[in-house]
Amino acid sequence: MSSTETKNETATEEIAAEIKGKLIPIYIMGHKYEVPETLTIMKAMEYAGYKFIRGCGCRDGKCGACSTVYRKPGDYHIYNALACQTQVEPEMYLTQIPFYPANRAIYNYEELTPVPEEIFKLYPELFRCVACNACTKICPKDIPVMDVVSYLKQGNITKAAELSFDCIQCGLCASRCMGELPQYHIFQLARRIYGGKIAPKAKHLAEAVIVIKDGKYDEMLHELMNTDEKELRKIYEERELEPEITGEDWRPKDRKFLLEVES
Ligand code: FES
Repeated sequence: MSSTETKNETATEEIAAEIKGKLIPIYIMGHKYEVPETLTIMKAMEYAGYKFIRGCGCRDGKCGACSTVYRKPGDYHIYNALACQTQVEPEMYLTQIPFYPANRAIYNYEELTPVPEEIFKLYPELFRCVACNACTKICPKDIPVMDVVSYLKQGNITKAAELSFDCIQCGLCASRCMGELPQYHIFQLARRIYGGKIAPKAKHLAEAVIVIKDGKYDEMLHELMNTDEKELRKIYEERELEPEITGEDWRPKDRKFLLEVES
């Protein structure tokens, strides 16, 4: 059985467990279906018989794969949502946009210098922004998209990276942009430049990389790679979890793989 089939079966079982409440009509790509009112758009689509091969990833609002646009009867607005996070509404007309063909610049990251001109060169369309703010209005993660564009035009990569940190690359901003900007790709470049070439380096991270290169974890990884799935599941299920409420000085009981081993 493929992982997609397994995933779909799991989804179907989850839906079966959740089905309560009355059925409501929704329209998926023009076809009418009756679905339980308690379901998310994603689960309602699966209930209606759709199987997700694309347009579904984390099911937790984090991967941006499940962008959905919809309208409601008697309402001229176009709404948007993440299908995995949004409950169905009666008579909604919806379709999914799992991919949006926005322009994506090709670059050699190693050759980039941390100056805004690099972004201007790769994405000159940045200056086509007409400040209509449609991008901000459609963002399902409430990122002030137009403000990020403005900061970039001013050359402030740091601010743009900070403000766009929650971007999940769903592409809805680009789908609504009058200036035809691929905002999410531009912001990703800004975050890459900021993260690798502007933000101060974390000393503990550099030390950890040296320890990894020196082979501290090789034996443990080798053991894991030679463990069968049943045993791996057992190890995973029995792992020590950090308590939900704990002080900053919490440490796991097994500290042999921590960098700083307490005596
Ligand atoms: S499936 Fe990942 S955000 Fe919805």
